[in-house]
Amino acid sequence: SESNSESRGALIVLEGLDRSGKTSQSSSLLKYLEGLGHSAELWRFPDRSTDVGQMISSYLTNKSQLDDHTVHILFSANRWEKRSLMETKLKSGTTLIVDRYSFSGVAFSSAKGLGIEWCKAPEVGLLAPDLVLYLDIQPEKAAERAGYGGERYEQLEFQRKVAQCYEVLCDASWKIIDACQPMEDIEKQLQEIVLDCVTICQKGKPLSNLWS
Ligand code: TMP
Repeated sequence: SESNSESRGALIVLEGLDRSGKTSQSSSLLKYLEGLGHSAELWRFPDRSTDVGQMISSYLTNKSQLDDHTVHILFSANRWEKRSLMETKLKSGTTLIVDRYSFSGVAFSSAKGLGIEWCKAPEVGLLAPDLVLYLDIQPEKAAERAGYGGERYEQLEFQRKVAQCYEVLCDASWKIIDACQPMEDIEKQLQEIVLDCVTICQKGKPLSNLWS
């Protein structure tokens, strides 16, 4: 009801394979929202600035080896250490554009063969996004893009498995965007969807938790 609903920022997540364009589109969305006078921030996971994030980063750049379960839990811990700040920001009216979230966590680890329910468990209780934007690209197309192959998971065979895992995870609420369109077309589509979501959250849509 209107009486107990508080205006807040929106939690908007971008997901997709490596090199699907999430990072460029996230920055572009931030500029767009700021240009409209909204309070907004760009976040990304893994957040490599924390101690946990540095362990993840050295794993991703092949400087350290970690058991698959261990790294899965580190990725999750890296989100948990940001949960309370995330809630504070949203409640103070700031919209968060988040480049990867729990869906990356589950898709990448289950692509390695870990059970999907096991992968979801540590994510339960994190804030649920108001919107998931999936930048859809064929693994083969992504592999042709500049910068591909630098990190541990940027291997075509593995990205094919990740794509299949995203398909299992995806539900009707996700917005699937064709990531092979011209950049400006993608920007326009994202802007429209995001603005709707920001408006709904301003009107006081309640926050909820994963996994639902
Ligand atoms: P980035 O390139 O967006 O910084 O992400 C680094 C890699 O980490 C990318 O290949 C996806 C992967 N990843 C996971 O495996 N689990 C996670 O929870 C997250 C957020 C990313």
